[in-house]
Amino acid sequence: MANHLLKVSDLNVFYGDAQALWDIGFNVEEGDVYSIIGSNGAGKSTILKTLSGVISASSGEVEFLGSRVERKGANVMVDRGIALVPEGRGLFSSLTVLENLELGAFTKRARPMMKESLEWIMGIFPIVKERKGQLAGKMSGGEQQMVAIGRALMSRPKLLMLDEPSLGLAPLIVKTIFETIKALNAQNVTILLVEQNIHQALKTANHAFVLKTGRITMMGSGDELLADPEIQKAYMGTLGQV
Ligand SMILES: Nc1ncnc2c1ncn2[C@@H]1O[C@H](COP(=O)(O)OP(=O)(O)OP(=O)(O)O)[C@@H](O)[C@H]1O
Ligand SMILES: [Mg+2]
Repeated sequence: MANHLLKVSDLNVFYGDAQALWDIGFNVEEGDVYSIIGSNGAGKSTILKTLSGVISASSGEVEFLGSRVERKGANVMVDRGIALVPEGRGLFSSLTVLENLELGAFTKRARPMMKESLEWIMGIFPIVKERKGQLAGKMSGGEQQMVAIGRALMSRPKLLMLDEPSLGLAPLIVKTIFETIKALNAQNVTILLVEQNIHQALKTANHAFVLKTGRITMMGSGDELLADPEIQKAYMGTLGQV
């Protein structure tokens, strides 16, 4: 039997009385770029928030590295190796780039590796190195996204979750973000990517599913979904995303 890095089964999540996720199940393998696509309000962020321990599921199981983790809090999840780059990035704008990065290494496991983690991240993102003394709030949107990814990497995650990293960025910067995702993946970081940029996300992902009003409606390889006429019609046709 293959050992999945992440195994999600029958996950149901509510906000008060309103059910946001219905019987969500999927497996992420080490080395994957796994993508979740779906339109506004589908429940994409809710999946990532549940997996990062920010909100808890009412039922279902989450197994990470062979252990059940669905009742663990956010700090434990980061320590176990799941890091989230949240929608909107969540940087501290009045702290410097370096200070933001250092905050990412808050766990017991990551703290002793802080110096080498900084060197690793500055190697990946030269702009972060150049601007390390600058206030994060003064960076451009694309640069802030790099810092946010860098901060998540400071926890030395085994699974990096990105919530709409390309949102609101110019096409050229979007290209850089997706190249970065591929480069990180080549460095053995497994990636769970939430995107509305369907075309780029499916091109980058080896596995993906479509989420529609809290339910998985389609699942397959990135190429399979990319070739699906329904996806082409529903997303590329109406949204014109390429
Ligand atoms: N804190 C909350 N309280 C109540 N309802 C919420 C809360 N957060 C999200 N929801 C609802 O849950 C559903 C899923 O929201 P979620 O943010 O997960 O969607 P999403 O796919 O990430 O959307 P977007 O693309 O706009 O980011 C939506 O109907 C939303 O209104
Ligand atoms: Mg969202």
